[in-house]
Amino acid sequence: MPDNLQTDYKKLLERNRQLIILGSAEAIVSWDMETMMPPKAGELRSEQLALLSQIHHKMSISPATGKLLEAITKNPKYDSRNQVEQRNVHLIKKNYDEQTKLPTKLVTAITKQQALTVNIWKKAKATQNYALFKPELEKLIALNRHAAEILQRVKQTKTPYDALLDIYEPNMTAETTSKVFKELETGLRKLLAKIETAPNQPDTNVLHQTIPVDKQREIAKTLMQTLGYETPPSPNAAGRLDETEHPFTTGYYDDVRITTHYHLDNFASSIFSVLHETGHALYEQGLPQDWKYQPVGSSCSMGFHESQSRLYENVIGRSKEFWTTLFPKLNELAAPSLANLNLDRFIRAVNQVKPSKIRIEADEVTYNLHIIIRFQIEKELFNNNLNVNDLPAVWNQKYEETLGVKIQNDSEGVMQDTHWASSLYGYFPTYALGNMYSGQITTKLSQDAPDWQKQLANGNLDPVRKWLSNIIYSAGNLYDPAELIQKVTGTELTVKPYLQYLQEKYSRIYGF
Ligand code: CO
Repeated sequence: MPDNLQTDYKKLLERNRQLIILGSAEAIVSWDMETMMPPKAGELRSEQLALLSQIHHKMSISPATGKLLEAITKNPKYDSRNQVEQRNVHLIKKNYDEQTKLPTKLVTAITKQQALTVNIWKKAKATQNYALFKPELEKLIALNRHAAEILQRVKQTKTPYDALLDIYEPNMTAETTSKVFKELETGLRKLLAKIETAPNQPDTNVLHQTIPVDKQREIAKTLMQTLGYETPPSPNAAGRLDETEHPFTTGYYDDVRITTHYHLDNFASSIFSVLHETGHALYEQGLPQDWKYQPVGSSCSMGFHESQSRLYENVIGRSKEFWTTLFPKLNELAAPSLANLNLDRFIRAVNQVKPSKIRIEADEVTYNLHIIIRFQIEKELFNNNLNVNDLPAVWNQKYEETLGVKIQNDSEGVMQDTHWASSLYGYFPTYALGNMYSGQITTKLSQDAPDWQKQLANGNLDPVRKWLSNIIYSAGNLYDPAELIQKVTGTELTVKPYLQYLQEKYSRIYGF
């Protein structure tokens, strides 16, 4: 092995290591802002984040990194380096090429416009005033479209929108997404029609009993322990649970934190958000220790991340097997509430399917229809086929057509999510892709560990935990998502296993 190549590679990784550590510090400051910060600290926290992100950007476009990348990739011996080393170089190069091609002026303009747009979005949403939101959203989309056009050239994607998709789901295209979403939509609509006309509808009133927050905290603790996610005071804790308006997960390896929101009269909400976020956290904590501080030591994609959270939240978390041993504990912790609830009624209630207006409250079946609507809209926005003026009308029409619900105002319509105000274009599809991956992954899990559900009913999650760790977490970011799903399941991305899972589950629950 030529010495130069080895030295250059080490130098490159060391530079990148600093970037990763800096990124993890930024994440902690953001976390603090959402969870712990006293009210007056807002300005200081914003200054800290702005400075950190400025330093981050400067470090990522450093010419020294460019020189090292060039020396390494042009070295004739480079091809003989192992897969992990080549993947590390590839990931660093991809990020470097993209960051250096985006003018700093444009990056700063997007950051500023985004902060402004999020603020206006909050006000506009509170007052149901799309006209207030529209001009700022228009400016933000124009800036992001400019960035997308630059990224399109760097990444050589077919459209600007594809360049955005690639940020969250590397190498995924709108063409592939459209194709699988079409099949998904057809299948879901058929299933939904059967569910809606089934005589055996669940009773969800049982979920709206008052349970004090301190009891809900104990329930959350039990769930996290069951999944193997440790929080203080455990000396082995590499995570913690705090409370925010909207649940999220953030962190790196041995410090991955989750949040939830407790609703007094809806205890199921925090139960499923804790299971969801714990699924995300276990993935991050389970990445190979040998790859810590390297680009390969990260998750595969946002879609894969969501496959892990949805697997724990829905496939496992809403199953009768999972609750067989846990339900008596839930009953005990919630007492005297829930005294009139039994396991069967609980499982039926938490699996109710009902078209609704709000995505984050949607059930497993209709959730993906919400995502498909957003995907269709943002794709058209970025391909210049849709004007920001027409957004509410298009949105409302699609909701009526696809979900059969009538949107009364834009706050429960086009302004319900923060994503578009936060420059997250190309992100929504990963939610539904994650669900499809979870279907494929579960099918494979059942082939490799046929008794996992039986074990689950005995309160034993080990077969699932071990399999996910060995097969998914251990791959880190060694492959793009299309390659990883092929490697893990033996087939390319397909919607069939997910639809089959839904069909089996809901025909059982609704009796058709
Ligand atoms: Co998630």
